[in-house]
Amino acid sequence: MTFLKKIQIAPSILSADFFKLGEEIQNVISAGADWIHIDVMDNHYVPNLTIGPMICKSIRPHIQVPIDIHLMVEPVDQLIIQFAKSGADIITFHPEATRHLNRSLSIIHEYGCKAGLAINPSTSLNHIQYVMDKINVLLLMSVNPGFGGQKFIPSSLKKLSEARKLIDNWSMENNGQSIALEIDGGINSSTITSAFSAGADTFVVGSAIFETSNYVKAINSLRESINLNKA
Ligand code: DX5
Ligand code: ZN
Repeated sequence: MTFLKKIQIAPSILSADFFKLGEEIQNVISAGADWIHIDVMDNHYVPNLTIGPMICKSIRPHIQVPIDIHLMVEPVDQLIIQFAKSGADIITFHPEATRHLNRSLSIIHEYGCKAGLAINPSTSLNHIQYVMDKINVLLLMSVNPGFGGQKFIPSSLKKLSEARKLIDNWSMENNGQSIALEIDGGINSSTITSAFSAGADTFVVGSAIFETSNYVKAINSLRESINLNKA
């Protein structure tokens, strides 16, 4: 399974029709999804309640693309283990949600998964400073976590550029080792252009895919918005 290509489109199933979840997932994958993003919420760290490890386990045998688990739960360590055992490939959590960040990252690796840190709009990038060697994904939230369909927060662009610099410098000092820069919240075919220019390479997209009637068209239009920008 390839973890990192140049650009990842990661549909968030939060906006899918849960009555036909399996079909929805197969359809976005056929339409070109690179990762499947699963938003896990506990009505404690965020005011919403969504998906547990059972769902991850039932999806796993049916798909070949990486499963990208975004934990919006507190505490995180027990659920990391459960999601790892349920077939997750990437597990990302928020630094505020654990007492021992370094330890939580180690648990993810111990169970054979890639590790990510998720940074809220008002949270500092400083959290990653001493753990860059332990993260494979840096996820920047461009909305406040908890719900799909919110508006992209413009100050996320400045943060993305800062994160891009941190990652590139770190990568140069570490034999080109890569960290994906994932942006999550309010991404659609217009906001994706500036998020890409600011340095993101991985794009979580919920409503702008699942609330359309044609997933091929939606994903193509996201990719085109990036390509137009490159030209
Ligand atoms: C919000 C979630 C996002 C969200 C994305 O807490 O982390 O993944 O579902 O949905 P859209 O693309 O609709 O903002
Ligand atoms: Zn998410």
